Amino acid sequence: MNFSKISEQSLPGHVAVIMDGNGRWAKQRRLPRVEGHRRGVRAVNACTEAARRAGIRSLTLFAFSSENWKRPADEVSALMSLFVQVLRVQQPRLLKYDIRLRVAGDTSVFNPELRDLIAETEQATSGCRGMTLTICANYGGRWDIAQAVRRLLWEEPLAASHPEMIDEESIGRHLALDWAGDVDLLIRTGGESRLSNFLLWQSAYAELYFTPELWPDFTEKSFLAALRWYAGRERRFGLTSEQVASGALPSGRGF
Ligand code: IPE
Ligand code: IPE
Ligand code: MG
Repeated sequence: MNFSKISEQSLPGHVAVIMDGNGRWAKQRRLPRVEGHRRGVRAVNACTEAARRAGIRSLTLFAFSSENWKRPADEVSALMSLFVQVLRVQQPRLLKYDIRLRVAGDTSVFNPELRDLIAETEQATSGCRGMTLTICANYGGRWDIAQAVRRLLWEEPLAASHPEMIDEESIGRHLALDWAGDVDLLIRTGGESRLSNFLLWQSAYAELYFTPELWPDFTEKSFLAALRWYAGRERRFGLTSEQVASGALPSGRGF
């Protein structure tokens, strides 16, 4: 696939994806929901490789939300097994493509096998610099903000007696994805137009791209279409269009 038509400055630095629609994809084919999740793994690979080829610095995928525990027990356990399987199989590919894997979310509740595998994969790929792939597992945007404030007070106890020290910058420093920064482009597949508690803080100024395509059908071409759409947006961060055109945005903001 040719990415040359999108100039480097028009590429988002951080792309986040709500991978939705696996269940409906399976239902349309009279297959069990878990089959949709299995096929979704192929889309994860396609999207990751497309992002890497395009030169995206950070790709963040929503794999399991804090609310997804409420699903039927067999679906939850199938999703956990799939996560283990994916981590086992993907390690060589991550190394081959120079992709650093990180997991964000409350992983303390996962079983020891999964926790060990996460730690091992993070460690094995820690020297990779081509792109950072963050998997959000047992993640919720509200959980993230709450844990950031807790950690801030824990690590900087002075802040407890000096609340004026608690500001956007200090909370931001303790967020789960401090390595990825703000989201530039947020993609949601599956046709819903909502955030479902994903990266609430980090998406404050994200461009939101909603596509009806179901996640297992998502391909490199779909990813490229989202990048093209993004390249046509004017990000203003509260300024006027004229100000943006005259270069008033602080560096690191916008294109
Ligand atoms: C997204 O697909 C995957 C997870 C939430 C783990 P869904 O399973 O939500 O698929 P739909 O929305 O029911 O089609
Ligand atoms: C969001 O999808 C979570 C993930 C993609 C992991 P959901 O399917 O859980 O979201 P809702 O319930 O439709 O809002
Ligand atoms: Mg869904």
